[in-house]
Amino acid sequence: VDLKTRIDPENLPSHIAIIMDGNGRWAKKHARPRIFGHRNGVKAVREVTEAAAEIGIKYLTLYAFSTENWKRPRVEVNALMKLLVETLHKEVATMMENDIKLQAIGDIEKLPKPTYLALLEGINTTKNNQKMTLNLALNYSARWEILEAVKGIVRDIQTTDMEVMDINSELFSQYLSTKKVPDPELLIRTSGENRVSNFLLWQIAYAELYFSPIFWPEFRKKHLYEAILDYQSRERRFGKTSEQLV
Ligand code: FPP
Repeated sequence: VDLKTRIDPENLPSHIAIIMDGNGRWAKKHARPRIFGHRNGVKAVREVTEAAAEIGIKYLTLYAFSTENWKRPRVEVNALMKLLVETLHKEVATMMENDIKLQAIGDIEKLPKPTYLALLEGINTTKNNQKMTLNLALNYSARWEILEAVKGIVRDIQTTDMEVMDINSELFSQYLSTKKVPDPELLIRTSGENRVSNFLLWQIAYAELYFSPIFWPEFRKKHLYEAILDYQSRERRFGKTSEQLV
């Protein structure tokens, strides 16, 4: 069966977020170092980005490095940061060919300088592309992001004519790093872990959650299609009853 042709183009999520998990366990399964898993994870990133752009997804957000990931062994962190530089340098051309705009969320200024610079360069080079936005979450955690929003709001209340009464969901969203991006309708996590792990906590309020048993390095286009088909089979009610939806 051709999964891709079964996808309803009228009912696509505009934004898909993915927690790419299982690189380490996949490497272990193959008796290789963890970085071998991350390297093969890049292949999955390329496949999924291409598939998402092809079917018309507008925003794809990938959890590439969490604030908590600094606690990993230093060799792994260093290798991941180097892999990011390499991948960014290599893939900016692909993004240009495919009209993909690169963006990032997270405390990216605290990344190692070469990673930060490669990221800025990629963002700048691709800034006028329109087909899809590829958003990398790097040194990101949702609680950090929410606290930054709180600080921004307090600052603006102190220094502008904004008042406490003005705070509502719409205003709050504008202080998050995803301010110009619609909330993800679909959140995918791979490797059989059923957790949200501090990712986009505000933004996934109404997201459909999809957990795949596949380790990230083995995640391919068909797995993305399966996730989207599953999403399309669900009824999204936003607190209403089924009858109110028709
Ligand atoms: C999770 O697997 C994966 C990561 C923490 C890193 C994800 C990074 C990549 C796929 C490469 C970056 C590439 C780009 C261009 C975004 P894990 O190490 O937590 O696996 P485990 O749970 O099996 O140990």
